[in-house]
Amino acid sequence: MSSHFVPGPTYDGWLPGLDSLCYGGDYNPEHWSEEVWHEDVTLMREAGVNLVSVGMWNWVLLEPREGEFDFSYLDRLLDLLNENGVKVALGTPTAVPPAWFFRAYPDSRVVNSTGTVMAPGSRGMAAPTSPDYRRLAKRIATKLAERYANHPAVALWHIHNEYGAPVNWDFSVHAQRAFPKWLATKYGTLDALNHAWGTTFWGQVYMEWDEICLPSATPTVVNPAQKLDFARFCDAMLRECYVMERDAIREFSDLPATTNFMAIACPGTDLFAWGKEVDIVSNDHYLWAADPRNYIGLAMAADLTRSVAGGKPWMLLEHSTSAVNWQERNVAKQPGEELRNAASHLGRGADAIMFFQWRASLSGAEKFHSAMVPHAGTDSRVWREVVELGKTLTALEPMRGSRTEAKVALLWDQESLWAQGTQWHPTVDAQGLERMQTFYERLWRDGITTDFAHPGQDLTKYKLVIAPASYLLTKESAANLTEYVRGGGTLLVSYFSGIVDEHDRIHAGGFMSPLREVLGVWIEEFLPLRAGDTLRILDLERPEPKAATSRPADFVLTGTVWADHLRLDGAQVQATYADGPLPGGAAITRNELGEGKGWYLSTQLCVDDLAPLMERVYVDSGLWTSGLPDGVEMIRRIADDALYTIAINHTDMPFSMMVADGHVDLLDNTPVGAGLLIPAKGVRMVRKPLTD
Ligand code: GLA
Repeated sequence: MSSHFVPGPTYDGWLPGLDSLCYGGDYNPEHWSEEVWHEDVTLMREAGVNLVSVGMWNWVLLEPREGEFDFSYLDRLLDLLNENGVKVALGTPTAVPPAWFFRAYPDSRVVNSTGTVMAPGSRGMAAPTSPDYRRLAKRIATKLAERYANHPAVALWHIHNEYGAPVNWDFSVHAQRAFPKWLATKYGTLDALNHAWGTTFWGQVYMEWDEICLPSATPTVVNPAQKLDFARFCDAMLRECYVMERDAIREFSDLPATTNFMAIACPGTDLFAWGKEVDIVSNDHYLWAADPRNYIGLAMAADLTRSVAGGKPWMLLEHSTSAVNWQERNVAKQPGEELRNAASHLGRGADAIMFFQWRASLSGAEKFHSAMVPHAGTDSRVWREVVELGKTLTALEPMRGSRTEAKVALLWDQESLWAQGTQWHPTVDAQGLERMQTFYERLWRDGITTDFAHPGQDLTKYKLVIAPASYLLTKESAANLTEYVRGGGTLLVSYFSGIVDEHDRIHAGGFMSPLREVLGVWIEEFLPLRAGDTLRILDLERPEPKAATSRPADFVLTGTVWADHLRLDGAQVQATYADGPLPGGAAITRNELGEGKGWYLSTQLCVDDLAPLMERVYVDSGLWTSGLPDGVEMIRRIADDALYTIAINHTDMPFSMMVADGHVDLLDNTPVGAGLLIPAKGVRMVRKPLTD
């Protein structure tokens, strides 16, 4: 590795040789004759494509038999792309070991929890713990780095593809060997492990490391702490594979490395841990077609990706020009929808807008997936929009490197989501991710840009921190939240939070005891509801309506899923239960600690019913809602010399938004008046210079 290269999350550069926003997609020319490659590069120039990802599926082309290498195809391809000014994110093909690999090393196949061995003929990596897989994956990555480290087309290493998909949990013989070793490193002694896992319960005490099994199918519920550690182990094994390839490449290359995440869509990967290993964070995002408001899910994934990147610009490595092919009903994007999607990613910090894939495939499992060059060819709406987007990105060039900033953070801890996903909890209805989504949507509708933060990190830059579902919360993280509030922050905690430690052990001292000081309440008993039951909640404070979103002063809110028998220890009751298991009991509380406030919500509210609560929480936090109508999205990016505003109208009605003097339209460079008109289903992107 060269001495001047600063790798990892501190890498502050962009793609060498690409001083621009990136535009392009996955390019799989191995499906086509070389004549078509020439047509491709001509079309890429027409569309303004400056970066393509190649090679992710090429292991068998590059190593047709074990130990026999042939790079002639890739040599020709990279030279052609270079001659045409298209840079390359060079993929390592380790997500698709060749058929010869699986025949030679059949025990490297992934095994699922019921013991079914996964056959080749699809994709998805081999068992990440297989020594043969690791040895040969490292070798092919090394060969690529040796050969192409200094190729002028290569700007980025794209290692593997979507770690954790399609297989996250592996129960192979290699995993069985590696798991006890990993546990021994983690715990040091069996006593420590037995204590952490609470193995005296049901007589599970282990006397030897090799007695410990993977949590595959068991007669009844598996030890939840074992399951939590297995999730950590599987994620760690995938990350070891990434780090192994990255470090092998660094022996030869100074170029940054990434691997494409699937923020929110891949529950097996702990993204904050992965974010520390990549030089540039990148993400793939696909709309959920069944959801007519899927642009909110897009925004959430983009905000999570930016947060994993520590606020730095990141790359959208894949999304789709129109329909995907793998959902039940693959709805085509409407005219203009792709631009709205791209604008939201850009506004939320993406400096690269890329697609799966460049040219639609004639064969294989993804032949019905949309592409930049669709089956219909260039006389098509999709192609025209692709060309238009290329022009738009060129006009947005000044925005590159600017940052999206947030004053609110939702706490996101993958370990907590894993732990909350274990069985035999008070109710199956308390779903962690769903609650994150509800709070996120509330903030989105209120026009408040949101970060995601780990509960243990420094939170002082945020005015408001929300814990929608912090089931697993270590004492240290709870102390961090307490100090955050003492120092002036506002914290809002929703039910079933602060319950267990890092080993899924209930905190001694009662449910939520580590948050007792900051919230001023404690829980005598959980009171989960029957399916479909609701609770009426009476607001005691009856705030004056403050905005168009305010509800009548004497509102009644509807809770579902959960209630607590809450006991007060300093907090003031803001709302009570009118019925349900504990009429008159506290439903919402507010506590003052030091300079800050700690709110607790002991039931589940829908997005609408969260509004009046959030209004008051915003007042405590010194935050304002944007006042924009539901469906109009506005995001800001800030640079030293300018403020960029991206406004997206997802509704069928045009909307005019007030903006300060001095804004200029980024697309045509014309000054914008006081009212910025955002056409129905349209996008406006404007710049305001910042002067001293
Ligand atoms: C994923 C993969 C791509 C492709 C797309 C299709 O993101 O990385 O190779 O399969 O899905 O949507």
